[in-house]
Amino acid sequence: MSPEIAPRKRGMLVAAVAAAFALAAVGAGALLANIAERKSEARNPVVRVVELTDDTDDPAIWGKNFPVEYDLYRKTTDMQRTKYGGSEAIPRTATEQDPRTVTSQSKTDADPRLKAMWAGYAFAADFREERGHAYTLDDQKFTQRQVVVKQPGACIQCHASSYVPMKKLGNGDIWKGFEALNHMPYTEAVKHVNHPVACIDCHDSQTMQLRVTRPAFIEGMRAFKKDPATGKQGQLGDLKEGAFFGEMSILTGQPRMASVVALTRCELLELDRPTLDGITKSHPHVWDVLREFAEKRAAQPSR
Ligand code: HEC
Ligand code: HEC
Repeated sequence: MSPEIAPRKRGMLVAAVAAAFALAAVGAGALLANIAERKSEARNPVVRVVELTDDTDDPAIWGKNFPVEYDLYRKTTDMQRTKYGGSEAIPRTATEQDPRTVTSQSKTDADPRLKAMWAGYAFAADFREERGHAYTLDDQKFTQRQVVVKQPGACIQCHASSYVPMKKLGNGDIWKGFEALNHMPYTEAVKHVNHPVACIDCHDSQTMQLRVTRPAFIEGMRAFKKDPATGKQGQLGDLKEGAFFGEMSILTGQPRMASVVALTRCELLELDRPTLDGITKSHPHVWDVLREFAEKRAAQPSR
């Protein structure tokens, strides 16, 4: 039986619903205005002091347009003791082979057992505390591990700004440049790079949009079936009328492995675990059907 609503109350209800719609309309208007504003911001994101191009890998040049971010970037040179420990400066005398006047602590000196454990392996020669991103390239160039082992060009990938060098080496194709760089010995590859990881490795020079510039990561994400531009899962399949999904999750209690997006209007029925348990009590074969289905789906070759 539906509850009776007195006429006066009904009037108030109508007013409340109308008010809610009005608020929603104002909200939608504000959202649209906000989107328009953001779009124009995206077209014209900053006051440009210098023109950046897709070949500007020197972060100091980017710093002219983005002084605050550049200052923050430069803070990675900091070598004060922090509560996290590890990277406080250790002075050293520069040599011709290794011009650094400061390094971080040696882990192998702090715990000589590491040298015994790694005997015959390059890490026994030199293994230090990590320090700020500003040092990634220098520390890689001058580690003793370069002296005891002929290191590969692939080392460059995480330590240097390699986007522009890859583009140059591959005549515009970073994938070709990536392969070229990786196939070189380190001593050769390092001649092609100039900076530690820099603005251009993460940002589009025109829009400042974040982007991924590492072919290895793009390939890895593809293998993981995710779109590198959005980080979202690529399409695994197409569900038609009468299909169901989520059976693995309801059986195992584990988080779902994929998201389902409705492309058209659909009617969905939700079955939760307690309801399922109720059904399988009276119809035990439902459980078997679901399990069989889940096993088949899990065994499907992933695309
Ligand atoms: C997949 C990314 C990646 C690659 C490839 C890589 N590194 Fe690193 N490297 C790191 C990270 C992250 C750190 C900082 C964390 C740490 O020290 O444990 C680091 C730290 C270092 C350090 C400073 C600390 C230390 O161990 O003394 C040196 C030197 C170094 N790497 C040399 C190399 C060499 C040589 C290669 C090639 C064999 C290489 N790296 C390849 C990510 C990478
Ligand atoms: C390792 C990747 C990486 C590097 C290198 C890097 N950034 Fe960023 N930057 C980011 C990320 C991630 C954000 C945060 C984006 C967000 O929150 O939407 C960001 C945010 C920004 C923003 C704010 C953008 C906005 O829309 O508000 C600016 C400006 C910026 N970075 C400039 C720089 C400059 C200049 C450099 C070089 C000195 C630099 N970044 C280097 C990853 C990087």
